[in-house]
Amino acid sequence: NVRMILDVDTGIDDSMAILLALKTKHIKVEGITTVFGNTDVVQATRNTLQVIELSGVDYEVPVAMGAAKPLFRDWRGPVTHIHGDNGIGNCELPQPKGKAIAESAAQFIVRKVNENPHELTLVFVGRMTNLAIALAQDPSIASKVKRLVIMGGAVKVPGNVTPVAEANIYGDPEAAHRVFESGIPITLVGLDVTMKTVIGEEHRRVLMDSPAPGNERAAAYMGEAFQFYFGAYDKQNGFYGAPLHDPLAVAVAAYPDLVTTEDLYISIETKGTMSYGATLADFRRTVPVTNTSVAFEVNSPRFLDYFINTLKS
Ligand code: BDR
Ligand code: CA
Repeated sequence: NVRMILDVDTGIDDSMAILLALKTKHIKVEGITTVFGNTDVVQATRNTLQVIELSGVDYEVPVAMGAAKPLFRDWRGPVTHIHGDNGIGNCELPQPKGKAIAESAAQFIVRKVNENPHELTLVFVGRMTNLAIALAQDPSIASKVKRLVIMGGAVKVPGNVTPVAEANIYGDPEAAHRVFESGIPITLVGLDVTMKTVIGEEHRRVLMDSPAPGNERAAAYMGEAFQFYFGAYDKQNGFYGAPLHDPLAVAVAAYPDLVTTEDLYISIETKGTMSYGATLADFRRTVPVTNTSVAFEVNSPRFLDYFINTLKS
């Protein structure tokens, strides 16, 4: 079993990552922590609670609210053109019955990792602010995390916010820098692979049409949210479909052999003007150690089968 803490800025693709994690039989989600990013942290927390309830998961999943802004900078505001005014494509889900726990995201991470040394896989699909704060509170957790899977970065491919920077790193580069320097074993699932896992209209129809008993509301949500997401990518990139960024990170935590990786030393640029937020790989191997397994190839058909079969179940 993969015991997971998932950190999200829910977000349309985040919501699909949450559903994928909760519906995968051999993943146990020990908690979900939230952060600003695609939307503000209060909205991201609300969306997360709603998506958990939509999933029909049969165990308790604590939600801990985290950072409202980057470590040192101002937040640039919600990404409404991709994720809608409420983060989930303007879909209206029922008022959540549950609420967030009293602990902050960072406190929750510190406590859970200390209680379960070498047991927990962390999957971060938003800004890395909560983990940077957790590491500041207790640096010893770095050696107790089993693995950290990050959706973020663009190593050999262009960025999606600037020519070189990807949104989750660009959104708080100082936090990402601290995480990459921490010694936690990292698998980086960046745009190098997530841009290759694209779903389109046929997949949306399959997810939406003839839902399994009990999955009707989730199926309707997926149909509606993907419609918004595809439309946003269509306006931006001219194709009606979308890359499954965040679900791929969950998938790699569940099935590491979905991707081929190369071990490299990754540094985060925090000072450059043009290069701010870049994930720089030491391909020349001037640093004698590595800190990250970077995914460069992905078995997209196998991932898409897993994604669709699991979300239909
Ligand atoms: C990342 O940015 C966010 O918009 C998505 O949820 C994903 O985590 C892709 O760059
Ligand atoms: Ca995200």
